[in-house]
Amino acid sequence: MTRIGFAYNQKPEHESVGAAATELARPEEEPPSSGTRSDSAVATLLAPAPDDEFAEWDSAETIDAVARALAKYGEVIRLEARDDFPQRLADERPDILFNIAEGLRGPNREAHVPAICEFYGVPYSGSDPFTLALCLDKARTKEVLRANGVPTADWALVRSADDLARVAMRDWRYPLFAKPVHEGSSKGITERNVVSDVDGLRGISLELLERYAQPVLVETFLPGAEFTCGVLGNGGDARVLPIVGMNFGALPDGALPIYGFEAKWLWDRPENPLDIFSCPARVSDALRAEIEDVVLRAYTVLGCRDWSRVDVRLDAAGRANIVEVNPLPGILPDPADNSCLPKAARAAGIGYDALIGACLEAAAARQGVALGGAA
Ligand SMILES: Nc1ncnc2c1ncn2[C@@H]1O[C@H](COP(=O)(O)OP(=O)(O)OP(=O)(O)O)[C@@H](O)[C@H]1O
Ligand SMILES: [Mg+2]
Repeated sequence: MTRIGFAYNQKPEHESVGAAATELARPEEEPPSSGTRSDSAVATLLAPAPDDEFAEWDSAETIDAVARALAKYGEVIRLEARDDFPQRLADERPDILFNIAEGLRGPNREAHVPAICEFYGVPYSGSDPFTLALCLDKARTKEVLRANGVPTADWALVRSADDLARVAMRDWRYPLFAKPVHEGSSKGITERNVVSDVDGLRGISLELLERYAQPVLVETFLPGAEFTCGVLGNGGDARVLPIVGMNFGALPDGALPIYGFEAKWLWDRPENPLDIFSCPARVSDALRAEIEDVVLRAYTVLGCRDWSRVDVRLDAAGRANIVEVNPLPGILPDPADNSCLPKAARAAGIGYDALIGACLEAAAARQGVALGGAA
C-alpha cells in the first residue's frame, strides 16, 4: 500500500489573543464569527496583531478532511510541519508527500517543506520551493508575468520612506492601489489602500511600511470586474475550473469594489453570509476564453504544479489582468465557508475528496509514483 506523508500547519485551537489578533488569525477565506462595519473595524485591522503568524494555517477540520480524502489512496502518515519535521520525514520516508503546509517563518516559509522533501528525495505534491517563494513576493511575480507578456497592472515597489519620492514622481494615472508585498488573506488591504492623489499614496505607503515592515507594492487600480480561478493539472492536461466571479453589488452601499479585509472578514458573517460569489461566473464566451488564457499562461510561466488559484481583474479597457497567484490555495471543506477552489471544483462536478485526489494523482503521475488503495 502506498505510504502518503501529509504535511500541514495546524492552527492552535485555543489562542489567548485579543480581538484584533483574532480578526487577523483566521485562515484564508474563513468567514468571521464577529465584527461589524465601523470605523473601529478599520482600527481593528490596524491594531497590533501578535498572532499573525497563524493567519494562513489550517484548522483541524480542514486537516481531517484532507486526511480522509488521502486515505482512499493509501496509508496516511501525518507529518505536522514543526521543528521535528525534517527528522520525521527522514525516518518515515513516505512514497509521496501531500503538502498543504504554509510554513513557520519568513517570506520563504511556504518553500521550506518542499525544499526539505527535495533534500531527502521524497516526491511531493504541488509547486516547488522556487515557485512558492516567488508567488509570496507579489512584485517579483509581476516581473515574471510582465517579462512573459502576461497582463498585470503597472507597478512600483516602495522599499523605504526614501523610495517614496521616486515612486510618487512617476507619471501615474490615479487611482492607485497600495498593499504589502508579502502578505495574503487581505492582511493590510482595506478600502484605504485605494488612493486618489499623491498625498494619499504617501500616507498609506508610510503606514504600511511601518506596520508591516516590508516593501509596499503600488499598482494602477484595476477598475473592472474581479474573478478567481482554480487550476488543476499539469502541462497539456492543466485546466481552469469554472470561473468564480465576485459580485461587488453584494457589498454594503458605498463600499469600494474590492475583495479586501472588510469584505472577507467583517461583512461576510455566518449569520448573514455575503452573497459575493457566482460560479460559474456570468461572462461572455470571449471573456471566459481570455480569462482562462491569461490564467493558464500565468500558471505556466510561474511554474505552478498540480493545482493553484489565480486572481484576475479587468483593467479600464476590459482586459483580463493577473492580480496574484496562490500556489497553496485555501481548501476549506465546508461549502458554507465560501472557499473558492473547492467551490470551483464543485461547479465542475468534482467533490472535495475528488479535488484532493486530483491534486495527488497529478503529483503522482508527474513523479512516477504508483498510488495503491487502502485495504
Ligand atoms: N491593482 C489592483 N486594482 C484593484 N484592486 C486590487 C488590486 N490589487 C488588489 N486588489 C483588490 O484587493 C484584493 C486583495 O488583493 P490580493 O489578492 O493581492 O491580496 P491577498 O491578501 O493576497 O488575497 P488572498 O486572500 O487571495 O490571498 C483583491 O482581491 C482585489 O479586490
Ligand atoms: Mg487574492
